[in-house]
Amino acid sequence: MEKLIVHGGAPLRGRVNISGSKNSSLPILAATLLTRDTCTIRRVPDLSDTNYMVRILGELGAEVERASGVVVVKAEKIKSVAPYDLVRKMRASICVLGPLTGRLRKCTVSLPGGCVIGDRPVDLHLKGLEALGAEIQVDGGDIRVNAPKKSFKGASLNLMGKHGSTVLGTDNVMMAAVLAKGTTVIEGAAAEPEVEDLVNFLIKMGAKIEGAGTHRVIIEGVKELHGAEHTVIPDRIEAGTFLCAGAMIGEGITIRRVIPEHLQAVTEALKKCGFVLEIGKESISIAPNPTAKGFDLTTLCYPGFPTDMQAQFCALACIINDVSTITETIFPQRFMHVAEMKRMGADIDLQGATARIRGGAKLKGAPVMASDLRASAALVLAGLVAEGRTEVNRLYHIDRGYEHLDEKLAALGAELERVRD
Ligand code: EPZ
Repeated sequence: MEKLIVHGGAPLRGRVNISGSKNSSLPILAATLLTRDTCTIRRVPDLSDTNYMVRILGELGAEVERASGVVVVKAEKIKSVAPYDLVRKMRASICVLGPLTGRLRKCTVSLPGGCVIGDRPVDLHLKGLEALGAEIQVDGGDIRVNAPKKSFKGASLNLMGKHGSTVLGTDNVMMAAVLAKGTTVIEGAAAEPEVEDLVNFLIKMGAKIEGAGTHRVIIEGVKELHGAEHTVIPDRIEAGTFLCAGAMIGEGITIRRVIPEHLQAVTEALKKCGFVLEIGKESISIAPNPTAKGFDLTTLCYPGFPTDMQAQFCALACIINDVSTITETIFPQRFMHVAEMKRMGADIDLQGATARIRGGAKLKGAPVMASDLRASAALVLAGLVAEGRTEVNRLYHIDRGYEHLDEKLAALGAELERVRD
C-alpha cells in the first residue's frame, strides 16, 4: 500500500495540463463493444480505473492495445458474461451492460457493490432496459438480461430518480437503444458533459442521436455501428480540483487544456467567493484571496454544482475566514472526508447532508485515511495548507481517478512524496 506525505505551506505557482476525463473514458471504452470494427480512443488518462476497464474489455474477448493515452479496441467476438471478480472492483463497469445488451441481446453482468459514498443502486438502468423490451432477472448477485429481437425495440421512457438523473444509467440505456429498432426517447436523461461526449462518439460510430447534453435524448435505432476514432474531453473534476488548490495557497496557477464551459458551476462559485479568475479559451487562472467570503452550495445534476467537487470545496472552505455550507443531494452520505479533516483541526459541523464549515483557523498536519476518490483528493488539498506533515493513506483511491496528481502538484511547487507503506 502507498501513502502520500504532504509538507504543508509550500506555495503553488505555474501551469498544469489537465488530463482526459475518467468519467468520459469509461463509458466510451465500453461503447467500443457495440461494433466488431476497430475503435481508437485518444486522451484516455492513465488511471487504475481506465486500466481496469481495458482489462474488462479484454476479458470479454476484445483485442485491446494501449500506448500511452491511446486505446485501440477491436471487439470482433465478445462474450456475454461479465463476471463478479471483474465488476466488483469498479462499480462503473456496470456500463458494459448497455453495449452487451445492444450488441448481443443477451448478457449477464454482476451487480456492482455499493461504495463508501453510499448505496449505488442500478434500478434506473434496469428500468430503462426493460422499457426497451429486455427481460431482466436479478439473482445470485447477477443481472441477467434477455432482449429477444421480437421484443427489443425503441420506447419512450423517463430515467429520473429520487436523486435526479443517472449518468451511467443514461449511458447504458443509450448504448442499448442505438441498436434497438425504432425510436427511443429518454426523458430525464443526464446532461453531464461526459454523457454528451459518449453521444458524440456513438454518432461517429453511425448512431442516430439528438439532444446530446440535454435532459431529453432521442435515438433512432440502426442495424449496426462501425468503428470510429475519438478524443476524450478534458476532466472537469480534475480541473476543478486544481482550481481549488490554486485558490488555497501560493501565487496563483493556470490550468490548461480545459473546456471552461464544463466547469461553469465551479468557476461561478469561486467567483462568488471573491476569487479572481482569468478564463481563456482552453485555460483558467486563479490565485488565493485572503478576503474571500464563504459560500452556500448545494450539489445538483449538471449543469448544477457537481457532487464530485463537494469534498474539495470542504477543503477550500477551511481556508476561507468565514462560514460556508455545502449540501449534498446526489450522495447524501458523501462526507467521509469530514472526520478526517476534523483530525486536522477543521471546524466542520455535519447536520444530515449539510456540512457547515467555519474556516480561517490553521489546519494541522496529521495522518489521515483516504476513502473515496474525491475525498482523498480533498485531504491532499488540506495537507497543502496545513502546518507540518500530513500523511494520506490508501493512495490507491487517488490513483483510481487522478492521473499523476502528486507529480502535477509537485511541478507546481507542492512538497510531497509518495512512499510505500
Ligand atoms: C457517475 O456515477 C460518476 N461516475 C460519479 O463520479 C458521479 O459522482 C455521479 O455520476 C454523479 O454525477 C462515473 O461517471 C464513472 P448516478 P453514477 O447514476 O452514474 C442514484 C467520481 O468520483 N441512482 O448519476 O454511478 C444514485 O444512487 C464518481 O468520479 C439511483 O437511484 O451516478 C445517486 O444518488 C463518483 N438508481 C444518483 O442517482 C440508479 O439506477 C446519481 O447517480 C442509478 C443511480
